[in-house]
Amino acid sequence: MKRVGVLTGGGDCPGLNAAIRAIVRRSHQHGFESVGILEGWRGLTEGLTRDLDRDAVSGILHVGGTILKTSRTNPSKMEGGFEKVEANFKKIGLDALVAIGGEDTLGVARSLHERGLPVVGVPKTIDNDLGGTDFTFGFNTAVSIVTEAIDRLHSTAESHNRAIVVEVMGRHTGWIATYAGIAGGADVILVPEFPVDLENVCNHLRSRHKLGRSFSIVVVAEGARIGKDENIVSSRGTDAFGHARLGGIGMILAEEIEKRTGFETRVTSLGHVQRGGSPTAFDRVLATRYGVFAADLVKEGKFGKMAALRGNDIVAVDLADAVKSLKTVDPRLFELAGVFFG
Ligand code: F6P
Repeated sequence: MKRVGVLTGGGDCPGLNAAIRAIVRRSHQHGFESVGILEGWRGLTEGLTRDLDRDAVSGILHVGGTILKTSRTNPSKMEGGFEKVEANFKKIGLDALVAIGGEDTLGVARSLHERGLPVVGVPKTIDNDLGGTDFTFGFNTAVSIVTEAIDRLHSTAESHNRAIVVEVMGRHTGWIATYAGIAGGADVILVPEFPVDLENVCNHLRSRHKLGRSFSIVVVAEGARIGKDENIVSSRGTDAFGHARLGGIGMILAEEIEKRTGFETRVTSLGHVQRGGSPTAFDRVLATRYGVFAADLVKEGKFGKMAALRGNDIVAVDLADAVKSLKTVDPRLFELAGVFFG
C-alpha cells in the first residue's frame, strides 16, 4: 500500500478541490492511501496532516478554495527547512507526494526532487504564468470573473459617459488582462510585457470620443509599469518567495487619464474576487484531468514530473523545465487584442 501525500501551495484558486478529489479517487483505484498535508509546504515543515479518504473529497468538485488550506511557506528560506520536510515526510510514513501549485510551490518541489524526494506536480494559478503547460487551472475561472465584471462596467460607463479603469491580477504577466480584455471588449489593455505609454492610452480614448463613443473600458494588469517606472505596490515588504504585493496602478492610471483628457474616470480593482468561488466547467475538467494524471505518474514512479496541457493532451514535463522561466503573453495574441484598441 502506497501512502501518497497531497498539498496545495501558493495563492488559492477555484479548481483546487477538483484536483484534490481527482488525485484521491485515482489513487484509491491504484490501491493507494491519500494523506492531506495542510497549508502547503508548512504542513511538511510542521507535520500538519488530515484524513483524505473518499468521504473527505465527496461533494467538493465544485467548491472554491482548498480543503487542505494553503500558505506561501518557503522551506528553502528556512533554517533546515528542507531537512524538516524530509523528516516529516518519513515520520508521516509517505511514499510519494503530489504538490499542487504555481511557480513558487513547484520550484520547491523541484529542489526537493533533486534531493531525492519522490514528488510530482500539478500546475495551478490564476496567473497562467507557469512554463511547460498551455494553461494552469484557475486561469479560466479568473478570466470568466473579470469578463463578467467588464460586461457590467460597460453599462455604467456608458450611462455616465465615463472611462473606467479595471485593475486585474496576474502578478508579472498579463494573461488575465489580455484574455478578459479581449472577451470583454476592452478599448485598451495594458500588460507588464509592454510598458504603458500614457499619451498613447489617452489618444486611444480621445479617438473614441471623436467617433461618438463617449465611454471607454481600460483593463490594466497589476504588474504593468508606466514607462520605465517600477511596479506599483500596495504595501511594503515581500512574501517568503520575494514577491512584492502588487496593486494600485489602476488608481494612478485613472487619475492620469482624467487629468490629461478631461474625461470623467473611475477605477475598479477586482483583487481577490478573481480567486474566489466555484470553478468554471473548463477548470473543473482540467483540474480533474491533471489530478488523475498526477496519480498515474506516482503509480508509474515518474517523479520530478508535472502534469501539463499541450493542445488538448495531458503530458508529463520535467518540473525543472516548468519552473525555469515565467510564461509571458504571446506577442501575437496581444497584437490581435490591439486590433480593437481605440
Ligand atoms: O499568484 C496569484 C495571485 O493572485 C497573483 O495574481 C497576485 O499578485 C497574488 O497572488 C496575491 O497574493 P496574496 O493572495 O498572497 O495577496
